[in-house]
Amino acid sequence: MNAKNELKSIFTEYWKYLAVNTACKLKLFDKIFEGQNTLEILCSTNQWDKPTLSNLVSYLVEDNYLIYKLNPVISLLEKGELLIESNPKGLYYACLNWAEEHLNAWQHLDYSVKTAGSSFEKIYKKPYFDYLNDNPEKLINYHKAIYEYASDDYKELPNMIDFSIHNSIMDVGGGYGAAISLIKEKNQNIRCILFDLQKVIEQITNENIVKLNGNFFESIPNVTEAILLTRVLHDWNDEKAKIILKKCFLALPSNGTLYVIENCKDKIKTSISLLSLNMTAMCQSFERSSLEYIKLCEETGFNFQKDKKLNELQTILIFKK
Ligand SMILES: C[S@@+](CC[C@H](N)C(=O)[O-])C[C@H]1O[C@@H](n2cnc3c(N)ncnc32)[C@H](O)[C@@H]1O
Repeated sequence: MNAKNELKSIFTEYWKYLAVNTACKLKLFDKIFEGQNTLEILCSTNQWDKPTLSNLVSYLVEDNYLIYKLNPVISLLEKGELLIESNPKGLYYACLNWAEEHLNAWQHLDYSVKTAGSSFEKIYKKPYFDYLNDNPEKLINYHKAIYEYASDDYKELPNMIDFSIHNSIMDVGGGYGAAISLIKEKNQNIRCILFDLQKVIEQITNENIVKLNGNFFESIPNVTEAILLTRVLHDWNDEKAKIILKKCFLALPSNGTLYVIENCKDKIKTSISLLSLNMTAMCQSFERSSLEYIKLCEETGFNFQKDKKLNELQTILIFKK
């Protein structure tokens, strides 16, 4: 493709994501799965506009989400199945996540470039996690989306680290507990604790883990030998990240272990500049290198032990108090 054509296609690339996002918002994939599998049925059941739906479905067929198996019957292909809300291995909530607030923040990225501030905060007048906390449905959808990513990203974690050397481990800012649940599955004897904000912890039903709520800027209970801090520090600037690390330090006994899991940019083959821009737009933060994380942790009192690559994106950095 020549440069001009490449540019033309980049300008409208977001249409594709927003078409799929719209299909999710309409629960189109769920409805087809449940048997509303022709344009006729979909339109009459849901009072949708047939020519517009027909265009949406045509795109979804073109890009292999759907197929006209036996015209007019529409079926789901693998990508469509992954976008059914109830698919436990799917990405329905992840698909919802990147529109609305994220899109608005990205549209004001020039503000972040000029000020290093969060364009999200400029628009919504509060930090992202406060905004989520004040919007129950958004908070649940965000955590379901993060859980969908986390279940994939952390699945090898219990095989890569021998957590059985600890009697207890606490996942700080663990969200819906994907990482700590995987650790518990493999290490039944460890006391596994999930720590997050109250409204997040209220949603957790896993009986095998201990649930504690609180604010990691205030205090973290000292009830554990080891702390897991996964994709938490990248949400915060250096000043705030150091407060969280200090609270982790205070919570651990001497010789306690801290596992930091992050997208360390020096350990990733491809560039994560866009991911970093996203962090600035949303949270006034950025992706760091492993050396930058090590520096932050050492400045808080931790001693770096070693690192291990978890997957294409994430690295595990291990520290001792
Ligand atoms: C990017 S998510 C990471 C979730 C999970 N660790 C993972 O890797 O998928 C950041 C987490 O920090 C939690 N969090 C944000 N502010 C917090 C606070 N002040 N105290 C405790 N947890 C907080 C959020 O609720 C969320 O679960």
